[in-house]
Amino acid sequence: MSISVDGIAPHGGQLINRIATPAERAEFLAQADHLSRIQLDERATSDLVMIAIGGFSPLKGFMEQADYELVVEEMHLTNGLPWTIPITLSVAEAVAEPLKEGSWVRLDNPQGQFIGVLELTQKYYYNRAHEAVNVYRTDDQAHPGVKVVYDQGPVNLAGPVWLLEREAHPQFPAYQIDPLVSRKLFAEKGWQTIVGFQTRNPIHRAHEYIQKCALEVVDGLFLHPLVGATKSDDIPADVRMRCYEIMLEHYFPQDRVILAINPSAMRYAGPREAIFHALIRKNYGCTHFIVGRDHAGVGDYYGTYDAQYLFDEFKPEALGIVPMKFEHAFYCTRTQQMATTKTSPSSKEERIHLSGTKVRELLRQGKMPPPEFSRPEVAQELIRAMQAAATEG
Ligand code: ADX
Repeated sequence: MSISVDGIAPHGGQLINRIATPAERAEFLAQADHLSRIQLDERATSDLVMIAIGGFSPLKGFMEQADYELVVEEMHLTNGLPWTIPITLSVAEAVAEPLKEGSWVRLDNPQGQFIGVLELTQKYYYNRAHEAVNVYRTDDQAHPGVKVVYDQGPVNLAGPVWLLEREAHPQFPAYQIDPLVSRKLFAEKGWQTIVGFQTRNPIHRAHEYIQKCALEVVDGLFLHPLVGATKSDDIPADVRMRCYEIMLEHYFPQDRVILAINPSAMRYAGPREAIFHALIRKNYGCTHFIVGRDHAGVGDYYGTYDAQYLFDEFKPEALGIVPMKFEHAFYCTRTQQMATTKTSPSSKEERIHLSGTKVRELLRQGKMPPPEFSRPEVAQELIRAMQAAATEG
């Protein structure tokens, strides 16, 4: 891994920018009514944005068949770079049929607004079960990521894309820090080593512990909660972001932490998604990436440390970002601190750890989880949000 004055190299060496120039945008807008039109779902919309801002560098568009197949089967792109998650635009046959390869296609967001353009270079069929088993290690449609694959259309549309305009995030404009900007911020702060943290859950003490362990050895912490599509029973992004604001106010040294949103959608692909998450953070300029227990997992589909093991299957220099692996963390009543089995001699009975289900149950009843699990200010915010949601509907 090489870190120059400009920071760590993006994946593939160059930060991709697919945001249309003013001239390109004017040209696209002039043609808007003459182009075939496709409506993107929430995930495809966030993928378009991630490609455009360089978060998915080196991708310049939705994957063509050769890349798609190599990614599904061997976790690499045809240029030899590691890549573990297919980035595809999957549509129904009736949608794909009239579209001509070589033509430009207008991309609308779920609200029907014109937001991007695809230069359609290829359309191809793919095998859902093959994708599911390889990427998710299961074809069980009870798995939320697999369900998306089975619900989407059977034809992939591929080719380079442009995003018409990078608009401010409607909910979190202050935290919309794209890769170009995060890289600048890291340089301004003089940080040489930065650890990225992925999350889709409200922050609890185990998260805080591993973040701070990492912060003991690197210059800065890039807190990067995912705010794209998640499964319906995950806590909404605005609530999670408020919890982070509370934590920064009370429990973190603010000059050593940057909070920013990750606009992409959750796949729940466990080990493969952990690699994908790391590569995204490399593009944002992180040199290190936290991988704890059952990273990006769901249910019992993956072993507790499978995500960590998958990093060992890649050459470190090919990934170009260092995983910081943490064991399952808990509060240890014997030593009276957060710990893992690496640092505490505790028996099982001396460990306080709550499952997500148990915590949700407590919060729904308006009960505070123990302070050993959650900071009280965060627990209060979660209870408030749950009660508000219950009243609303
Ligand atoms: S994830 O789907 O985004 O990975 P989550 O927000 O729960 O889910 O986790 C964020 C990161 O914290 C992941 O790297 C995960 O492995 C790690 N993590 C969560 N809980 C623990 C824990 N108790 N001990 C160690 N690591 C944890």
